[in-house]
Amino acid sequence: MVAVTDQVDYNVEQTIAVITINNPPVNALSHGVREGIYKGIETASRDDSVTGIVIYCEGRTFIAGADISEFGSAPKEPHLPAVLTLLDQSTKPVVAAVHGTALGGGLETTLCCNYRVATADAKFGLPEVHLGLLPGAGGTQRLPRVVGVEKALSMVTSGAPIGADEALESGLIDMIVKSDLRAEAIAFAIAKSSQGASHPRVRDNQEKLQSAVESPEIFAQVRKMIARKTRGFLAPEYNIRCIEAAVSQPFDEGIKTEGKLFMELMAGPQSRAQQYFFFAERQASKVAGIDKNTPDLPISKVGVIGGGLMGGGIAMNMANVGIPVTIVETNQAALDRGLGIIRKNYENTASKGRLRAEDVETRCGLISGSLEMESLADCDLIIEAVFENMAVKKDIFSRLDQIAKPEAILASNTSALDLNEIANVTSRPESVIGLHFFSPANVMKLLEIVRGEKTADPVIKTCMAFAKRIKKVATLVGVCPGFVGNRILFMRQHQANLVALEGAPVEKVDQVLFDFGFPMGAFQMADLAGLDLGWDKEKSNSETVRDRLCEQDRRGQKTGAGFYDYDEKRRPTPSSLVADLIKDHAEKSGVTRREFSDEEILDRCVLPMINEGAKILDEGIAMRASDIDVVYVYGYGWPIYRGGPMHYANSIGLGKVVEKLRHYQDKTGDDFWTPSPYLVDLAENGKKF
Ligand code: 3HC
Repeated sequence: MVAVTDQVDYNVEQTIAVITINNPPVNALSHGVREGIYKGIETASRDDSVTGIVIYCEGRTFIAGADISEFGSAPKEPHLPAVLTLLDQSTKPVVAAVHGTALGGGLETTLCCNYRVATADAKFGLPEVHLGLLPGAGGTQRLPRVVGVEKALSMVTSGAPIGADEALESGLIDMIVKSDLRAEAIAFAIAKSSQGASHPRVRDNQEKLQSAVESPEIFAQVRKMIARKTRGFLAPEYNIRCIEAAVSQPFDEGIKTEGKLFMELMAGPQSRAQQYFFFAERQASKVAGIDKNTPDLPISKVGVIGGGLMGGGIAMNMANVGIPVTIVETNQAALDRGLGIIRKNYENTASKGRLRAEDVETRCGLISGSLEMESLADCDLIIEAVFENMAVKKDIFSRLDQIAKPEAILASNTSALDLNEIANVTSRPESVIGLHFFSPANVMKLLEIVRGEKTADPVIKTCMAFAKRIKKVATLVGVCPGFVGNRILFMRQHQANLVALEGAPVEKVDQVLFDFGFPMGAFQMADLAGLDLGWDKEKSNSETVRDRLCEQDRRGQKTGAGFYDYDEKRRPTPSSLVADLIKDHAEKSGVTRREFSDEEILDRCVLPMINEGAKILDEGIAMRASDIDVVYVYGYGWPIYRGGPMHYANSIGLGKVVEKLRHYQDKTGDDFWTPSPYLVDLAENGKKF
């Protein structure tokens, strides 16, 4: 074995040159890998004793794509297209031997080989769209020539990988190996090289493009199909245009089109935000200050207190990954209702073909119900998910303290209450932690993990790892009212309410937020959550618009009316009654009403989020700015192509943010707008979050 570069080895076995890539963790196409492949191909071409070439990877996976961490800096030669051109032009047959995931540039590398063989669990995909990009090394031109236009469109617009069986069926691979990938790939290469000098090249294959030449309406259909899901994103459309080019242009022209559109995306803000977010998400799971030898606590049985919407959703997370879970309710009717809703949810998924009937039974079988908290005595993790009332939560935790085994983790799903106060009613506050799931808990990816004053390191470490196990993205936050997510949201809602009071129609405020990229505006979101969250009927005295709406039983979607009127399908229409009520409330409160521009509405809603994020960082409630962004993208639908509030602030420029905050402070005379000293400090020193 000869080292070509630090990451690539070369050796000849029988008559086959094996280029072995070893660039952990995912064999990304870093500079040394590109150079190694290039030199390896050159060496093999020059060696007359070599009759074929195998590209093989050590470690857990085949090449998982270009090295994203190199994207920000000037690329070093050889560039990927040059490496792949050399590969494509090899006169000796090249076999890609794939295990793990051949993604992005990794799959594009295989498409420049003459043959592809893979293990049965290998996966193949072009996920560039998730980075705001398109496959820029020939993927959009070659993939449709192999799997057909329809499948290629689906793969590039969704970014979702396909498995080895599907790859074999669609012609993407030639063989699934039985046991030893390397040896079987070499044998395959020997067999092919002995069959003659002519070997298939993907670029020459026009056949699978033919159906789209005859029926170009497929492109319009795909655009229509993905329009809702991809609203605001540039990359899906650019990917489609490239595949259109594959069909309508000669190969080399198509490659040029792909290259041009790739560079446009790469230079744009969306891709920058999405690349940033790729690393932000992975960074979020890392906790500084916790020794890596800290023990993990075993979690094999979970208890959930409360079988409502939240508790049920939480329980489903456990069952989905095979963990038995017991739900405790206070009465049989509530328990039956909760378990019934879970079953219905699973059955709905099955009816859409996304779950097998037997899985519905397996998962329901993992969820048991009980009316006795004592039945949680053998649980490793117990999650309280009852409504937001401190007295009730304290009562539950003091009872749990008596019941739970000593090593159990006791978690609260509180979304805003003081976790330390809850922990301190137990004799073991070090075992208490916040696990704040987002509704619907079986769908939303975010888990805010709240570290109390006394929460022990093993409890934190275990919960961070557990989040991954139940397929959540976790961020670790500290205790303050509303933690990171809701604390920031309170600021947005406060301003949205004021802007509406000062004259902007509710639906206009929501439209501006929707156009920015949120899935819904502030008032639609409030209606969805329920306007009576934290509202007290006994104490209500028409002091706020919300009080007045709740007093009229307009408590949000669930009552068919809130800021909007809702039909039976929960579709909103603006309400003239609400518009009049807000106007009346403004008059009674002495607020002068006026018109608002879209820009001012956006500023008033979004700038306070950034300012609050700065305060949160200053107080050490979040570990890093990127964690706040992860909370916002996965918990509140902040458009990922804008990276999250802190990345967005960086992209506007922190100096500009401070200037705008001061502008609104002057304009409104409200200290609410005072910029956080931490933010001012960063801005004055030309720094970023
Ligand atoms: N470049 C640089 N680093 C990468 C990387 C890449 N393409 N893919 C993964 N990594 C790093 C991660 O940042 C992480 O680093 P860390 O341990 O320091 O946090 C480490 O590898 C492991 O990654 P994951 O935690 O994500 O590991 P998983 O096992 O859960 O997933 C994976 C592995 C499926 C390969 C996943 O990492 C992934 O989807 N990676 C991105 C794949 C991708 O987007 N490829 C296309 C790149 S763009 C491209 O190829 C352009 C071309 O068309 C020109």
